[in-house]
Amino acid sequence: MTANGMNHLLWLLPMAVTAQVAAPSPATPAVRIEALLRQMTLEEKAGQLSQFSAGDATGPEAHRHDYATMVAAGQIGSFLNVIDPAAIGAYQKIAVEDSRLHIPLLFGFDVIHGFRTIFPVNLGLAASWDVPLIEKTARLAALEASSQGLRWTFSPMVDVARDARWGRIAEGAGEDPYLGSLIAQAYVRGYQGQRLDDPSSVLACAKHFVAYGAAEAGREYNTTEVSDRTLRQVYLPPFEASAKSGVATFMAAFNALGGVPASANPFTLDKVLRKEWDFQGFVVSDWTSIQEIIAHGAARDESDAAAKAFLAGVDMDMGSGLYLAHLPHLVRAGTVPAARLDDAVRRVLRKKTELGLFEHPYAPEVSVPQALPEDSRRLARVAAEESFVLLKNAEFGGRPVLPLSARPGLRIGLVGPLADAAEDMLGPWGGRGRSEDVVTLRAALEVRAKRDHMRLLYAPGADVLRPDAKGFQGAVAVANRSDIVLVAVGEKGQWTGEGASRAYLDLSGKQEELIKLLHATGKPVVLLLFNGRPLTIRWAAEHLPAIVEAWFPGVEAGPALVNLIFGDVNPSGHLTTTFPRSVGQEPLYYNALSTGRPMSDEQSPNRFTSRYIDEANTPLYPFGHGLSYTTFAYASATVDAKAISAAALRSGATLTVTTEVANMGPLDGATVVQCYIRVTGTSVARPVRELKGFERVSLGGGASRRVQFRLGWNELAFWNIDMQRTVEPGELRIWVSSDSVSGLPVTVELTP
Ligand code: NOJ
Repeated sequence: MTANGMNHLLWLLPMAVTAQVAAPSPATPAVRIEALLRQMTLEEKAGQLSQFSAGDATGPEAHRHDYATMVAAGQIGSFLNVIDPAAIGAYQKIAVEDSRLHIPLLFGFDVIHGFRTIFPVNLGLAASWDVPLIEKTARLAALEASSQGLRWTFSPMVDVARDARWGRIAEGAGEDPYLGSLIAQAYVRGYQGQRLDDPSSVLACAKHFVAYGAAEAGREYNTTEVSDRTLRQVYLPPFEASAKSGVATFMAAFNALGGVPASANPFTLDKVLRKEWDFQGFVVSDWTSIQEIIAHGAARDESDAAAKAFLAGVDMDMGSGLYLAHLPHLVRAGTVPAARLDDAVRRVLRKKTELGLFEHPYAPEVSVPQALPEDSRRLARVAAEESFVLLKNAEFGGRPVLPLSARPGLRIGLVGPLADAAEDMLGPWGGRGRSEDVVTLRAALEVRAKRDHMRLLYAPGADVLRPDAKGFQGAVAVANRSDIVLVAVGEKGQWTGEGASRAYLDLSGKQEELIKLLHATGKPVVLLLFNGRPLTIRWAAEHLPAIVEAWFPGVEAGPALVNLIFGDVNPSGHLTTTFPRSVGQEPLYYNALSTGRPMSDEQSPNRFTSRYIDEANTPLYPFGHGLSYTTFAYASATVDAKAISAAALRSGATLTVTTEVANMGPLDGATVVQCYIRVTGTSVARPVRELKGFERVSLGGGASRRVQFRLGWNELAFWNIDMQRTVEPGELRIWVSSDSVSGLPVTVELTP
C-alpha cells in the first residue's frame, strides 16, 4: 500500500467492528462452496443468481417492496444501487443471520470515474495516456466505495467507441484497442487491488460484452453489425486484456450483434469468453437485458428469455427477476441442465468467498468526512491537469495566447454557461460525488485573481441548452472591458453517458453565437470546452486563437484549469478519440482501412475516390493530437533490423524501434510518444495505421531522451483470411510520432 493509500484508509478506521462470521469456516473455500451447493434448493440457487436494484434506475425497474423478506428467503444474491451504509448493513444482517444458509450479499454500484472523489470522465482520463495514474484513480475509488460496504463496481467500460454520436463514448478509453487494453487493465488492478480479500478491494466488471460501442448511427441500444474479424481485431482485445488481468466479472451488453442479443450469445459468452479465454469469474446481464431479449424478438416469453441467456452464459440476472422466476422450473423440466445451474452458482460464490465476505460480511463502520481529504483532491487535480488537451494555441499580438502571464491589473473576462456549473463538472455517472465538493473555474479564478491582484469579470452569457440571447449583452460588455476572454462552453454533464446519443455534435443552444460575438470584440478569446465526446467546433477552430479540451474534469475542475491557463502546468493530454469536422463524417477513427480508392490529394481531389463532395475526409483533430507550451522534436526513427521473419517473431524475437525526443523550449513539459504500424501485402487489408506502443515522456526545458519500442508477435499478429491470429509476410511501416497522422515511416520486411 502506498503512503497515499494509507492516508485514505485513516478515515476508514473501524469505530465499532460488528463483523460476524456467517457460517463455520470449512477447510477450504471450495469445500465450503460444494457444501453449500449440496444444501441449496433450486430456488436458493436461482436467488444467488438474482440481482435487484433499490435506488436510481437506469431502465425499467422491476418494482419490488419486499426485499427484506426476499433476502431472508434466499431469493437475492446481490443488490445494486443500495448505497447507504446503514441499508447495506441491514440487508446484510438479514442475509447472514436470518437466511437459511447465511450466504452474504454482494453489493454493487456504478463507480465509473470515482465514488466520492470524482475524477475526469473516463474519456478525459484516457487522454492522459498515464496508465499508472488511471490505476491510482481506480484504487482511490475502490477505497471510498468499499468503505461503504460496496464490493463490486460495474467498471471499467472497455467498449471501443468510434462514433461521437454515441453518448457512452465518454465512459471509455476512446477508439483504440491497444491503448484501451492497457487502460482496462489499469482499472482492474486499481479496483481489485493486490488481493480480493483486502477489505478495500472491489470486484471490477468489464463491460459491455460486446460491441455495444458499435451501435449503428451512434444511437443508444441500437443493433450492431460487426464482422468476426473486426470483432476479434478491434472490439474484443480490451475485454481479453481485462480477462487476462483477472477481472472478476463481465457484463453482457444490451445490443444485438449480427442479430444475436449479446445477453444470449453463446459465441461470445461461451466460446470466446469461457472456452478460449478460460474466464473463471461470472457474467452479469445488463439492466433487464435478459427481459429485453423478448423485445429483440429472440425469445417468445420470459421463460424462453431466461433459458436463452442462461444457457448462453449469463450467470447473474440484473434487475429483470427472470432467473428467480424461471430457472427452477427450467431445471425441473430439463431445459437447463442442473450442472449449468451449479456452475453459475459456484462462480458467484467463489467471488463472494474470494472477497472474504463469508468471514467479514460487514464494512467497518466509518465516518465519512465532510470535506474531501486534501490528498484525494490532489490526485483529482493531477488527473484533471493531465486530461486536458491543448487543441490549438496560435499567436495573438506576437506570442501564443496561452499560457497567460499573471500580472497585477490584468483584466480577465470569464464568460460561458459552464464557467460556474458545479454539477456539470461531475459529468455522467457522478457516483456519490457532491456538487458542493466541486471547485468551479470561476471560484478558482477568483482566488487566483485575488492572489495576483488581477481583475476577474464574469457573465454566463448563454445557457447550454436554451436558445436564449438575453445574456449576450452582458457577455460582450465583459469582453470589452477585459484584456483576455475565457469562454467556457460545451455540454451538460448529463448530455453524455447512457441514453445520451446525439444527432448533432455542434455547440447546443446559442453557445456558438456567443463565441462569435465575443470574437467580434477583437479580444483574444480562449475556448474552454467541457464535454464527454468530440464536438464539431470547426468555426472556433478556424477563428479563435486557443482551444483547450477540458472534458468534465471532476471535483478539481477549477484549480486544475487555472494551473493550466497560467502555465503552472504544461498541457500534456492527447486525444484518444478523433474530432470530426462535421457529424456526417461519423463514425470517424484513425485506424480505418484504406479502401481501393483512397483519396490521395485533399486539395484537388479526384471525384471517383472515397470521399465526400461537400466535406474533407480528414478530421478536425486527429487521434493522438495534443499540444504543449513547449515544442518537442522527434529524431527519425531507426530499427535494429531491415527484415524479420514471422518464425523468429513467433519464437519471441522482437524489433527495436528507437527515436530521440527533445524538448526544444525552455519550459518543462511532457508529451506522448506514439508508435504506429501498417502492414501491406497480407491476406486481408489492414488499417492505415495502428497504435502499437507509446510512452509518456517528461522532459525538462532543453533536455532530450532516447525512446524505444519493441514490436514482437503480440504487436504484429492479426486475424488473417483463415481467421488465424498470425504474422504474415509483408511490408511493415513504422511511425514514431506525436499523433496518428504525422511523421515519416521506416520500413521493415516481414518474411516467412
Ligand atoms: C445500465 C448500463 O448499461 C450499465 O453500464 C450499468 O452498469 C447498469 N445500467 C447498472 O446501473
